Amino acid sequence: MTLEVTTNAQRLLQRLDDFARIGGTPAGGVDRQALSEEDRQSRRLLAELARARGFRVFQDPMANLFIRREGRLADRPPFVIGSHLDSQPTGGRFDGALGTLSAFEVIESLEDAGLETDLPLEVVAWTNEEGSRFAPGTMGSMAFAAGAIPGAWSDLRGRDGALFAAELKGTLDALPEAEMRPLGFRISGYLELHIEQGPSLEREGIPIGIVHGVQGTRWLEITITGQAAHAGTTVLGFRRDPMAAAVAALDILFKSIMPGDERARFTVGRFAVEPGSVNAIPGSVILTVDLRHPEPSVIDALEAKVRSTCKTAAGAHGCDAVFRRFFEMPSATFSQDLLDCLGRAAATLRLPVKRMISGAFHDALFVNRVAPAAMIFVPCRDGLSHNEAEYVEPADAATGAQMLLASTLEAMRAIASAESS
Ligand code: GLV
Ligand code: MN
Ligand code: MN
Repeated sequence: MTLEVTTNAQRLLQRLDDFARIGGTPAGGVDRQALSEEDRQSRRLLAELARARGFRVFQDPMANLFIRREGRLADRPPFVIGSHLDSQPTGGRFDGALGTLSAFEVIESLEDAGLETDLPLEVVAWTNEEGSRFAPGTMGSMAFAAGAIPGAWSDLRGRDGALFAAELKGTLDALPEAEMRPLGFRISGYLELHIEQGPSLEREGIPIGIVHGVQGTRWLEITITGQAAHAGTTVLGFRRDPMAAAVAALDILFKSIMPGDERARFTVGRFAVEPGSVNAIPGSVILTVDLRHPEPSVIDALEAKVRSTCKTAAGAHGCDAVFRRFFEMPSATFSQDLLDCLGRAAATLRLPVKRMISGAFHDALFVNRVAPAAMIFVPCRDGLSHNEAEYVEPADAATGAQMLLASTLEAMRAIASAESS
């Protein structure tokens, strides 16, 4: 069996180039952090492209952006496909953009072919998936799944000191032509195409990953406080050095957590030293830990290990350690019915697939709480992501978009017929 519609690879690749210029960095990556001017510009461009094709454009109070292609059954909840347009500070051009622009390519291709669907189909660009300017990540899909913006975000500030609420309002105002709609309206299902951000598809020469779940993530902020003192005059016995404590603790954690469990991930991505003077023992160090594992009980055990190791090292150096858990994303298992649709779509396209779990978190994880969700992965070079050198072969991007189209049609038919039977 062949598919009745095909995506336009040239158009998709051109769009990827066009969007990569928004916030493009000299090293070939992008800096398009959430709710920034660059993020707003990319949303505007997508909205313009959508309106040029006659699609309606919506945003909700979290600035999640939706583009709607009508279906025959206009009052049914839409099927939704998409990803995010925001990036890491030194991000790649495909993380998020590939899924969002491929989703747009899907609705354009359906339009080109004049193929009507029963269910309405919507493209989404979720707000702040990355969590690098404003933490946590996946704020847009999290609020969508909760049906409300958490109150705690009202006085949230970004790393640059910007107030989240003000930047959110500025982003919403930058798209006045988008119709407003409430958070968390009903949807019938969600599919997200994304780069793998890991090496396995490329290594195994498999073009498509069918993602059946996402491992859990937990973020901690650890503040180790000692006593600021003179670097030249303070003898060892008088030092309460939080840097020495942090280094001792991290040495143990780096040497034990990942070497001890190949499924565990332990990352220290931020490390701030106060007051940050060359000739002063620091008064405090503040660091972040990103822990990941597919098993919730193992994440609990890893957090306990991080806490006890830091406490012990702090104590040994006359310091104190205080912990704040500021992001928690439990692991998720995607909808088997949708995964079956992906399997059928891949068979139709004769594409070899690998069933896999995602090491990165994604908006699909939160959407999965309110509707059947699943993900499709394509390979990226050397598995490298969150890096300006991130690269996807054009043929792999094109195959991913075609797989997204086939899967979307398969899923929409299955959902529409299940709902009417
Ligand atoms: C998403 O960007 C993640 O850090 O997993
Ligand atoms: Mn992403
Ligand atoms: Mn990312």
